[in-house]
Amino acid sequence: MDKNEYTSHIEKVLISEDEIKQAVAKAGKMIDDICDGRPVRLVSILKGAFIFLADLCRAVSVPCEIGFMAASSYYSGTESTGKVDITLDLSQDISKYHVIIVEDIIDTGRTLKDISDMLRKRSPLSLRIITLLDKPSRRTVDIKADYSLFTIPDVFVVGYGLDCGEYYRSLPYIAVYRE
Ligand code: PRP
Repeated sequence: MDKNEYTSHIEKVLISEDEIKQAVAKAGKMIDDICDGRPVRLVSILKGAFIFLADLCRAVSVPCEIGFMAASSYYSGTESTGKVDITLDLSQDISKYHVIIVEDIIDTGRTLKDISDMLRKRSPLSLRIITLLDKPSRRTVDIKADYSLFTIPDVFVVGYGLDCGEYYRSLPYIAVYRE
């Protein structure tokens, strides 16, 4: 893909870099308030949440550990296959930790449902979910984030970690993707 083709798929900016920065700073303070000085383990779901996690962990001032899991549900274009594969599990024990799952987007909710069910069985002290984006109109399973930075309509979005065919993750804003 050349640069012209790359930019031709960006329909419009939905959430600007500045709006994201302000919302992430607010989310960091909220985590500080919840934790009240206690350490927290942020568990990020790769790959989409890697940029959100990187900014969020720097907006938190309580002692903070990072863990990674990876899941994949989209295998081509903009359509979900409906199947979630956990391709990387946490390397750490979470049984003595306050855990917050850091997700980039909740769409059907299947990824987060599978991951939160899996982690809850490992008896963390507490388990919460924070998501950058929430698309409630697409939900097919019963799952809700404890904290969602932005609620968006049913449009396919890219940028700030979110991809289409692995491109666009590096955009500093969230954009609507045009086929
Ligand atoms: C995307 C996104 C979420 C998930 C949300 O991941 O990052 O993890 O889909 O969809 P759901 O609510 O319908 O389960 P994807 O499978 O595209 O992998 P990626 O994060 O590596 O891009």
